[in-house]
Amino acid sequence: MPEQVSTIVVLISGAGSNLQAIVRASLEQHWPARVAAVISNRADAPGLRYAASQGIATEVLDHRAAASREAYDTLLMQRVDAHAPAAVVLAGFMRMLGPRFVQHFEGRLINVHPSLLPAFPGLHTHRRALEAGVRWHGATVHLVSPELDAGPIVEQAVVPVLDDDTEASLAARVLEQEHRIYPAAVRALVEGRLRVQGQRVRVLPIRQAGAAAELRR
Ligand code: GAR
Repeated sequence: MPEQVSTIVVLISGAGSNLQAIVRASLEQHWPARVAAVISNRADAPGLRYAASQGIATEVLDHRAAASREAYDTLLMQRVDAHAPAAVVLAGFMRMLGPRFVQHFEGRLINVHPSLLPAFPGLHTHRRALEAGVRWHGATVHLVSPELDAGPIVEQAVVPVLDDDTEASLAARVLEQEHRIYPAAVRALVEGRLRVQGQRVRVLPIRQAGAAAELRR
């Protein structure tokens, strides 16, 4: 067991399937961090029920209750800060976060987006990929910068676009890849294995227990 367990806060708005993949991987792979809290801007987000079923603290911060976008960001920042997280994970959090929030958590703030960025930032990525006729589509995990769906790319996964694809079938194929690459990227973040140089990110390999012992000698 790791000696020190740090904290992950996950922000969601919906189903929370990426949240589930991250919680599962963190437990199965004995990460040095655990998901301590899940915060949603929607009280009806199904991911909240999953989190509660796992004994994870849940909070709702409804954006409609805030006077302005900035006021919402400030409240959210306070709620997240209360957990002193090593990582703040956006997992289908469908709110744009302002520059103050992003700068405050810079280097700890990570997002998954359902396209091969920089293609198709924003909403309805699968529909737009089909309309554009691209042959390959996918998902991107990136550290968050103030611009929408931008920031140094940690990992991407590519899927083919098939002739008979619908928005739903393509979304499902992409989501399956998200569940593979997002936990791996969050793990690298909490294990301090990301090296950022400009827009480029190097992901250092997982240190084996044997190698760690070797280093200590
Ligand atoms: C995922 O496909 C994620 O990439 C997308 O929302 C979905 C959430 O699914 N996020 C965005 O579009 C953010 N720009 P989940 O709630 O089942 O994890």
